[in-house]
Amino acid sequence: MKFVTGLNCHLCGAAYPPEALWVCSACLGPLEVSYDYGAVRSVMTRSLIESRPRNLWRYLELLPVEEPKTGFNSGYTPLVRATRLAKELGITELYLKDDSVNHPTFSYKDRVVSIAATRAVELGFPVFGCASTGNLAGSVAAHAARLGLPCYVFIPNDLEPNKVLGASIYNPHVVAVAGNYDDVNRLCTQIADRYGWGFANINLRSYYAEGAKTMGFEIAEQLGWRFPDHIVSPVAGGTLMPRIYKGLREFKEIGLVDGVLPKIHAAQPEGSAPVIRALEAGLEFPEPVKPNTIAKSLAIGNPADGFQVVKVVKETGGSGAMVSDDEILDAVQLLARTEGIFTEPAGGTTLAATRALIKRGVIKPNESVVICITGNGYKTAEVMMDRVAKPTQIGRSFADFEKAIGSHLNAAVGAAK
Ligand SMILES: Cc1ncc(COP(=O)(O)O)c(C=O)c1O
Ligand SMILES: [Zn+2]
Repeated sequence: MKFVTGLNCHLCGAAYPPEALWVCSACLGPLEVSYDYGAVRSVMTRSLIESRPRNLWRYLELLPVEEPKTGFNSGYTPLVRATRLAKELGITELYLKDDSVNHPTFSYKDRVVSIAATRAVELGFPVFGCASTGNLAGSVAAHAARLGLPCYVFIPNDLEPNKVLGASIYNPHVVAVAGNYDDVNRLCTQIADRYGWGFANINLRSYYAEGAKTMGFEIAEQLGWRFPDHIVSPVAGGTLMPRIYKGLREFKEIGLVDGVLPKIHAAQPEGSAPVIRALEAGLEFPEPVKPNTIAKSLAIGNPADGFQVVKVVKETGGSGAMVSDDEILDAVQLLARTEGIFTEPAGGTTLAATRALIKRGVIKPNESVVICITGNGYKTAEVMMDRVAKPTQIGRSFADFEKAIGSHLNAAVGAAK
């Protein structure tokens, strides 16, 4: 917290101390953490960062915590050069920011929860919880277990079974609400208010959101301290996408990276695309929708930070794309087939949207692109069941193999004799 100057309202700029506050009492705008960038600039050098362990705490000066407390190795996930996928998409320089292997729960949420959980301890909340579309529940429950915090996670009652299991295994109280995410969120806001519990994405949201900046920091650092031309990010509640931008702007501000900031694009599923619809209609504030999509982790109809996504798209010269459930599942398969990465439908949404942006000419063939892959396919495996080939069933003799497979192989792929 050495460099944190306080919290500021994103809408009216009013200043608050860095406490358990999340909305502006004057205008109800969201509160954002502010830093003394001049002071950060004098200590946070490339070589200092590079000398630290490969996790998100390497950016400590720009994170709103006293000290790391989680004990997990979150962040610094691979930035993969994807040449085979690039070829399929008809572009030349493509990277995947692969949070499907984030630690400890295999989604981008481990970034935001690292900060929220640490801050929950520092601010002395008696209970740690969240309103979740699935991934957040798992990450909050894992962090609560590690820190010994009582934990309540609230989810819609129609989540994928493995997402529920992925939270339940850490033994929190899992509360399944008969409603969608937006209902869950409303309920949790009332509980936070009445019981004083710390909800990662509600009353700890100002701190939680700062964790998402680390994806922006890492993209710039892992590209060799430079910016790409484009970044494509999925959007649900709208935390991640604007914070990637904030992270990149901060690196520029403190002199770690020069150059033109990238165009940042928003990806949503057609069945839950309030932000893309707002962009198309020229609205500043997205209108709520009723979500209905296979990408359940992106099924937020009334995104808390939707207006910030609209703003960042406009400010960076970015764009938005919404894609169908079918395109999402196709993209999940394409990514697995070309790059060996199994993502959940949220990742499929981002890749399918990138494909659409290339087709529309928004992304040009020779421009560099980073796609944010934010979740792991093993948690939602059932959605792919009907899409993959069934195993070839054979008996146990060599003749069985020859009959079913060997005799169909041509010389090029046949076994060496
Ligand atoms: C896998 C995955 N990707 C992306 C997102 C979108 O995040 P945000 O709410 O920050 O827009 C979520 C949110 O739940 C998610 O679970
Ligand atoms: Zn305000």
